[in-house]
Amino acid sequence: MANLCNLDGLIAPESETVVPVLDRGFLFGDSVYEVIRTLGGAPFAWEEHLDRLWQSAAGIRMRLDLDRRTVVKRIADTLARAGNDESYIRIVVSRGAGSAPNIDLSHAPAKPCWLVMVRALAPIDGVPVHLARVERLRNDRRALDPAVKSGNYLNNVLGLAEARDRGATDCLFLNAEGHVTEASTSNVFAVVRGTLCTPPLDSGILAGVTRALLLEWCRAQGIPVAERNLTAGEFAAADEAFLSSTLRSVSPVLSLDGKPFGNGTEGALTQRIRRGFDAWCRDTALPRHQRALQALLA
Ligand code: PDD
Repeated sequence: MANLCNLDGLIAPESETVVPVLDRGFLFGDSVYEVIRTLGGAPFAWEEHLDRLWQSAAGIRMRLDLDRRTVVKRIADTLARAGNDESYIRIVVSRGAGSAPNIDLSHAPAKPCWLVMVRALAPIDGVPVHLARVERLRNDRRALDPAVKSGNYLNNVLGLAEARDRGATDCLFLNAEGHVTEASTSNVFAVVRGTLCTPPLDSGILAGVTRALLLEWCRAQGIPVAERNLTAGEFAAADEAFLSSTLRSVSPVLSLDGKPFGNGTEGALTQRIRRGFDAWCRDTALPRHQRALQALLA
């Protein structure tokens, strides 16, 4: 088991990997990133994550200088060297170390800096969540759009800390219109009168890879789903709720601001979705992702 970093193509232990003080990711959060997890040792939904990495880069005017095959090869090489059963994979692309600590893009280097971080990952098993609605809002789409997975997560860092202060395990962010958006690093779902509801992308959220796969799977199962705005009151009155993310898969939300959903245990529909979706990921989606990976690296 090992935690390794691949920095611009060179693999070394995480503890020995350093970036320069003039790196714009360090100075300004001027970077984009993705978190991928392995399943059966292979990067799950890697194509969707790389699509989003390229979209995030475009969203911050960063031109990515590597092709997808090179990025995938670096991931595969680092995973092979680490030898973990399952791994957390973080890809960070920073705009690189400029000539001065100056925000002006004219000081940025010609090429970005690529980090692939691989760490041992414990099994993902839908750990239950207690949410607190925080006063802090999710970033407005007209500012740094939450659809961009940038390295500037300070609003999320503080939202999570505020929820923790209140004894919760994660935060629920609203937007300026008073609609539910997402949690600190997860999308949110609620069961309202038998329909699985999740905030639409234009509410100002990250377009979660897990969220999209879940919506596809639920529709195929005939589960009624709606991407629609939810007020905080509607969310609080839901029968069930859960979070989705790469690292959580489906995690039941047991309470909001100390008030339980249903009887305070995982809801029946949530449990059905969690189990069915996890099995589909393993048995149906993963073999597809593995074949695509082998084809690209062949
Ligand atoms: N976070 N919303 C936010 C703000 C996120 O940071 C994430 C992912 C998600 C879920 O997206 P996905 O299903 O593609 O993982 C939603 C990752 C796990 C992280 O930053 O660690």
